[in-house]
Amino acid sequence: MCGIIGYTGQSEALPILLEGLSRLEYRGYDSAGISVFNKNKTHTTYRAAGKLNELKKLTETSKATGLSGIGHTRWATHGEANTINAHPQSDTYGNLSVVHNGIVENYLDLKQELTNEGHLFNSDTDTETIPHLIEHYMNDGTGFEEAAEKSAARIKGANAVVVMCNDQPDKIVAFRTGNAGGVLIGYGDNEMLVASDIPAILGYTNTISHLLPGELAVLHPNSVQFKDQDGNPIKKEKTFVPNDPISIAKGDYRHFMLKEICEQPDAIIASLMGRLSSEEGLFSLEDLNLTADDINKISKVTLTGMGTSLHAAMLARLWMERIAGIPSEWDNSSEFRYREPLLDENSLFISISQSGETADTLAAMEEAKKKNISQITLCNYSNTQASRIADQTLQIRAGLEIGVAATKTFTCSLVTLYALAIYLGVQREKINGKEAAKLIEELFRLPEMIGTVLANQGQYEELATLYHSSSDFLFLGRGYNYPIALEGALKLKEVSYIHAEGYPAGEMKHGPISLIDESMPVVALVPKDELYEKMMNTINEAKSRGAIVIAVASESDTEIEQKVDHVIRIPDVSDSLSPIVASIPMQLISYYFAVRRGCDVDQPRNLAKSVTVE
Ligand code: AGP
Repeated sequence: MCGIIGYTGQSEALPILLEGLSRLEYRGYDSAGISVFNKNKTHTTYRAAGKLNELKKLTETSKATGLSGIGHTRWATHGEANTINAHPQSDTYGNLSVVHNGIVENYLDLKQELTNEGHLFNSDTDTETIPHLIEHYMNDGTGFEEAAEKSAARIKGANAVVVMCNDQPDKIVAFRTGNAGGVLIGYGDNEMLVASDIPAILGYTNTISHLLPGELAVLHPNSVQFKDQDGNPIKKEKTFVPNDPISIAKGDYRHFMLKEICEQPDAIIASLMGRLSSEEGLFSLEDLNLTADDINKISKVTLTGMGTSLHAAMLARLWMERIAGIPSEWDNSSEFRYREPLLDENSLFISISQSGETADTLAAMEEAKKKNISQITLCNYSNTQASRIADQTLQIRAGLEIGVAATKTFTCSLVTLYALAIYLGVQREKINGKEAAKLIEELFRLPEMIGTVLANQGQYEELATLYHSSSDFLFLGRGYNYPIALEGALKLKEVSYIHAEGYPAGEMKHGPISLIDESMPVVALVPKDELYEKMMNTINEAKSRGAIVIAVASESDTEIEQKVDHVIRIPDVSDSLSPIVASIPMQLISYYFAVRRGCDVDQPRNLAKSVTVE
């Protein structure tokens, strides 16, 4: 989604803004722009459709000088992804410059009102109404800052806005409306920064404050003032964020996606660290704050998320039912919020969002909050929007994930949910200490098992060579591996742009089987589990219709080779943990196919790392 950076200080702003934007590339974008302000009370704006390189080329021919400015990477919502619609957007006379993340829900009304007043609009964006609205107030003699405050009060929807004005070139005003699109303020040495997220400003400062919905910040090189939504001055806490240069650098890896896939054994250790002990009776999920009484009273668990996080929710339902013994359901967040869900006061609502910023998930959480339901959220970062809505947050501790495709955040969400299910199961006496210890012991072996799968990557390159030009793929799984079939199809679509469908294998006869022919590779998740025989029947049916079958099978399965075309091995593992191990081949298939097809692996077209609009 859109990325924002702003700087006011003692150094040339242009290179700082460009560097900040390049660190925001991972969020996904389709155009970019920068405004640089100078002491002569003018500013220069550069905007370009496409990748950041296009913008850099523009700035190379005429380097604007100035000690302050704002920059933006845009992910189009209103208006084509072209130069005219790129940010920054300006007012009628080019006095103001605005970058924005979110959707101005009442932009059509505002645009009509301002056009009637004589304002001239250039773009198709909702964003452009913001500088015109500020201009409208300034035309009455209202000062820049106050005009921004008045405009913030009139803008509907969830928005993050950063604005600058020619008259006061060292001042930046930032504000938020609604509950999406984070804004953080960075405190430098005689310089201040504003950004949509942390990577953009690391290197200039490690001290930040978060702007909450309704708040406004006014930045000067040596100071910042914060105001609440009523315009009253407020004090904000400062937070220290550690540098994580190892994660930020790609190291020897060709892509962040591969680096992050390979980091999973370590990331999972970090997720589990200090949380569980396999010694019988020694068990803690220290960051969970539910009493035994709260846990025993839970009548139903409702899990939600979007995309990959939804697949984690689907899988967790099975663990909540089978390990914790609690009736459970899952729903896509964007559906949940509109279905008038029936939740009683003893329901537990669990949301999963690695970014903690996904607009649909936040809206579903707000919906549950209205019903006074106890809420846990799983996020990869602290201080997220989601953490502010939920009663408690379980950090998944995957470390920074730059690739747009979720990989290590998926498996870290899964192990955290698995640990939670064990914890709830013990508290509710669905499982005893001995049974829990056995499950935990195996959980601790997961990094090693994943390491074994990662050690054998040559076969994925071979599969990519054979089938990279296939136009369609089918992913089949059952039971615990049905959500992984969905995840395999999603990953392949996302990064390699091959059409793929994921199905519960039992569904195949009810329609999808008609797609099968000798040009259709079928990835079958067939570990030696309780549904192995059923999966084998489906594989036979697919084979007898000419399908190319790629099986993801257990190490101990000695017969599978004769029945399918290719076998990807995973270590023998319990039924309930097999989906976590089986998700690694799904990631590697999509990665190697995308590389073979020459796709932009880390920033697939049209996708964003955090989807902060509905
Ligand atoms: C995953 O590869 C996708 N990029 C996407 O489906 C993602 O999982 C979804 O947008 C939810 O994101 P979140 O976990 O940050 O809420």
